[in-house]
Amino acid sequence: MTHNVSKDDIARAVAVLKDGELVAFPTETVYGLGADASNVEAVRKVYAAKGRPADHPLIVHVADAVQLANWAGEIPPAAHALAKKYWPGPLTLVLKRNARVPDEVTGGQDTVALRVPGHPVAQQLLRAFGGGIAAPSANRFGRVSATTAEHVREEFGDAVACVLDGGAADVGIESTIVDCSGAVPTLLRPGWITPQQLEAVLGVPLAVADAAAPRVSGTLEKHYAPRTPLMLVEGDLVVELARSLVRQGKRVAALVRTALRPLMDGLVWVAAPDDAAGFAHDLYANLRELDQAGCDVILVEQPPERAEWFAIRDRLNRATAGSGEDLD
Ligand code: TXA
Ligand code: MG
Repeated sequence: MTHNVSKDDIARAVAVLKDGELVAFPTETVYGLGADASNVEAVRKVYAAKGRPADHPLIVHVADAVQLANWAGEIPPAAHALAKKYWPGPLTLVLKRNARVPDEVTGGQDTVALRVPGHPVAQQLLRAFGGGIAAPSANRFGRVSATTAEHVREEFGDAVACVLDGGAADVGIESTIVDCSGAVPTLLRPGWITPQQLEAVLGVPLAVADAAAPRVSGTLEKHYAPRTPLMLVEGDLVVELARSLVRQGKRVAALVRTALRPLMDGLVWVAAPDDAAGFAHDLYANLRELDQAGCDVILVEQPPERAEWFAIRDRLNRATAGSGEDLD
């Protein structure tokens, strides 16, 4: 992973965190907007900067699993097993909180979300800081997550003074979230680590979140949405539909997994990788680019049904769902 972060940059970021200010930093999933998780005032600044309601809890990032005990109350065997296999990595565990975790971090719930990111810059930052960093994805509420430092600056401008540039995030979509606080491990948000991989570690089927599950803002409808309306279309119909929309005078953007660009005025065409890892890596950058093209509609080729596309389908379905106000 290439990055441009020096020891001095890390030292400065640590000073900023200790000062109760915000630091945007890379993880292997997406960029985070971080605050000292034990500093209530600092955590409030995260909500203010994002424009996110205070009852949407944040993930606490820590350097290693040893630090779980500083935040979690109980650590059940399922959580130990998942942490051992997938940390550092794109996995978040929801556990019973302990009494020291501020309500501002948990949205007042009796659980806390914890993650050990693997990105070398996140690791350096967490080790140098020593404590937990509460961080949501570094995007404004309701917008597409940021996968580069430039995207973070697009979202926040000067409002976030310290942005560590760790290059483009490897995975490109947010972490898999598993709630281990109840009787049965429950998938709250799909991510690059698939339910099948989790079940292989757990040895039992995963439950899937229902309405009674703790609130996950990322699962509200109309999340991860670009401003331009987005439609999922079967691959063989994209060109036909684009043609007919263009004929009606519409400006059309398309995100497709083939390099064969049809010749058509009024069409913005972005060729996405045909493999799930590549597609996820580029997804949010592509959605930003397509959104900025100022079209009337974005057509996205429907991804395959296979397991490794599960989280991508989830994000795209949310981006197309509902209408009206942005929720997250
Ligand atoms: O990949 C990621 O997870 C990125 C990087 C920066 O770590 N973070 C991220 O944070 O996506 P955010 O805040 O955008 O999404 C975290 C989700 C939210 O939907 C939140 O509601 C949920 O995790 N969450 C946090 N604490 C929770 C808890 N105690 N119980 C249930 N859900 C929780
Ligand atoms: Mg988010």
